[in-house]
Amino acid sequence: MNRRPTVPEHVRKLTPYVPGRSIEEAMEGLGLPRAVKLASNENCLGPSPKAVAAMRKALEGVNRYADAGATKLREAIALRWDIPRECVVCGNGSSELILVLAHALLGPGLNAVMSRPSFTLYAKNALAAGAEAREAPLTPEYGHDLKGLLSRCDSHTRLVFVDNPLNPTGAFLTRREVDELERDLPERATLVLDEAYADFSRERLPDLKSLVGKGRTVALKTFSKLYGLAGARAAWMAAPPELAEAANRVRQPFNMSAMAQAGALAALDDIDHVRRTEKAVWEGLEYLAKSLPPLGLKVFPTQANFLMATTGPFTADGLAEGLFRKGVIVRSLSSFGLPDMIRITAGLPEENRELTEGIEALLKDEASDRPAWAARSGPALSGFPGPCGPLPLHGTAPETFSARGRGREGSVARSWACALQLFQLGSADIASDVKPRRGQKIRLPENPALRRSSTDQRITLREIPPRPRIPYGSGNPPTGKSCRGSLSRKDQGNSVPVNLPRFPTP
Ligand SMILES: Cc1ncc(COP(=O)(O)O)c(C=O)c1O
Repeated sequence: MNRRPTVPEHVRKLTPYVPGRSIEEAMEGLGLPRAVKLASNENCLGPSPKAVAAMRKALEGVNRYADAGATKLREAIALRWDIPRECVVCGNGSSELILVLAHALLGPGLNAVMSRPSFTLYAKNALAAGAEAREAPLTPEYGHDLKGLLSRCDSHTRLVFVDNPLNPTGAFLTRREVDELERDLPERATLVLDEAYADFSRERLPDLKSLVGKGRTVALKTFSKLYGLAGARAAWMAAPPELAEAANRVRQPFNMSAMAQAGALAALDDIDHVRRTEKAVWEGLEYLAKSLPPLGLKVFPTQANFLMATTGPFTADGLAEGLFRKGVIVRSLSSFGLPDMIRITAGLPEENRELTEGIEALLKDEASDRPAWAARSGPALSGFPGPCGPLPLHGTAPETFSARGRGREGSVARSWACALQLFQLGSADIASDVKPRRGQKIRLPENPALRRSSTDQRITLREIPPRPRIPYGSGNPPTGKSCRGSLSRKDQGNSVPVNLPRFPTP
């Protein structure tokens, strides 16, 4: 009897959320003494000290269940924003509240509408609820396209997700634009206004009381950004009473831990921490907006605690990888469909400086025709004929890369160099006498930097006759004239080309 569980098609299609790289990954994987993380829009000052003290105290009572209604926190929020307490629902981060809304309001035959790119969990949770996710492209200025969003709505639309400011571009909708969007939505659609970054905006925000009072808008708020509690998981939403009640039916009873409730309550009152955070973010953004353009990176207007920038002569993956190797973590936006953009969170002054110095150094490498990723290359890569961008490593399953070279030996050598580069991600000391042979498979060494993606990575090198001479290890750079090479990875059974930014023609 076949007793294997059946995972429904719509769940099988979901891709796991890929978080940004961590400071530990950079330090342990690359052996760096320190690393700077400007990739996940966290609070650069750290958590509110008052919140930390409150959470420590709450730990002592952790044998008891938390208050399932988060009563004190909801009361404080209701008072601060002048909204009825019944309209406030607390959650384990706004990520959980997005999931709760999707499960409360969506299902097969219904749909949710959102921009693409925008926060990835909107589409994912709509799909997880068995509904359709309809995405509208951004405007040429990288903002929400209101007409585009409305054009995707119909009588089956139940949720329209709008992050304001928009992640990852930082673009902002004015109060008037939000009102217009809400007014023009189909009758049964609810606008979910995700204000995760609205606290950093210097523009006037839509008035929460009147928004919620209209009965068709839910506002999502988080303690992860301004209040510095991303790891504690604390957020809330303001919803019309009927929707708040539906969310309370769907959510887990103890979805917000006692520590998160205590921390959030204390953070709300830590005005000093809030002011210091705002100042640090605004000054950081000002510094970045001034220092990046002279380096050839265009920056885009933002109302969040991050900004989007172009990547000069690099691809987004290339620049993010090059900076990672220097201990500065930024977010490549290639997975958001923006292969020439990165997102940078405003950091402390010294962190922002490390970023700009890192970019300067990479530009120098580029100008001297030295591959940025080879900054840490050991003797194994000496003699490499020319630059090749970093190999985009973002798979979650064990991956096989196939390097194929055509023509003279230079191209195959280059493919091999790409393979070496993959080794470099894992280990600085590959034996210099390793040479590829036809059909040879190489198992990558177990390595902390690769732990996230796989412990069983392979590179398959294939050669096309005439069989070339591979000079690696001999210190003799290849001299092939007509070089053509390609690298591919397996993705869901298909062979997908891996984009190599530069190609040497010795
Ligand atoms: C637009 C947006 N909404 C929500 C979230 C999730 O925040 P939380 O930590 O509250 O789950 C993020 C996280 O980065 C975000 O960018």
